[in-house]
Amino acid sequence: MASGQLSRDEALECSQCRHACHVMLYSNTASKLFGKIPIRHIVLMQMRFDGLLGFPGGFVDPSEETLEEGLTRELLEELGIAVPVSIEDHVESRFSTSPSASSSSNKLILHFYVKKMEEEQIREVEKAASSIASDHGLEVLGMVRVPLYTFESGGGLSCFLSHSFIGNARSQLIDSLLRLHLVSPKDIRRAIQSSQR
Ligand code: APR
Ligand code: MG
Ligand code: MG
Repeated sequence: MASGQLSRDEALECSQCRHACHVMLYSNTASKLFGKIPIRHIVLMQMRFDGLLGFPGGFVDPSEETLEEGLTRELLEELGIAVPVSIEDHVESRFSTSPSASSSSNKLILHFYVKKMEEEQIREVEKAASSIASDHGLEVLGMVRVPLYTFESGGGLSCFLSHSFIGNARSQLIDSLLRLHLVSPKDIRRAIQSSQR
């Protein structure tokens, strides 16, 4: 296992730790940008209250609810729909290395999930998130789709990656795009390189 990473069960054994769960929701799509560039997949992130990009989710107290129940509760607040997330959707758990988390006496463990949905369900989430979600305009300023293409000029995924992200959300995004084959390794490398220019 990579450093800082631990299994879901090991993570739950730490009673002194704080826990946060976040999820990448995505779907396939046949829609095309400008009527010609295939979008291929819809991947959802959010603009947070602190101006950083991140995934929907939040703090969970495992003494009161399972990690997945807590994540679904956070999704109801942030997206307006209680999208069910299960143990099968769990991808990784790791200790947070962000300065704010390490200044607290209790370590923060970040649990990350990925859930594939139908395009119609993703569109419903987008609608609910900007209308009935209780956190809309407060903790969540808006949901955004991740552009998965990179233009010759560098626009697209590379521009997206040059924004600021909360915690390890940027690497969670890149790792997921690779693992799920949503973007080819060559295109990811190109996007990362031009995002750092
Ligand atoms: N990857 C890694 N870490 C993340 C991610 C992510 N994608 N998103 C958030 N975090 C970390 C941050 O350190 C964050 O403070 O997990 C913590 C909790 O996640 P939030 O989604 O911010 O928590 P939420 O329960 O939704 O509450 C929103 O209210 O109490 C305040 O400031 C507190 O950030 C908290 C906010
Ligand atoms: Mg929240
Ligand atoms: Mg949150």
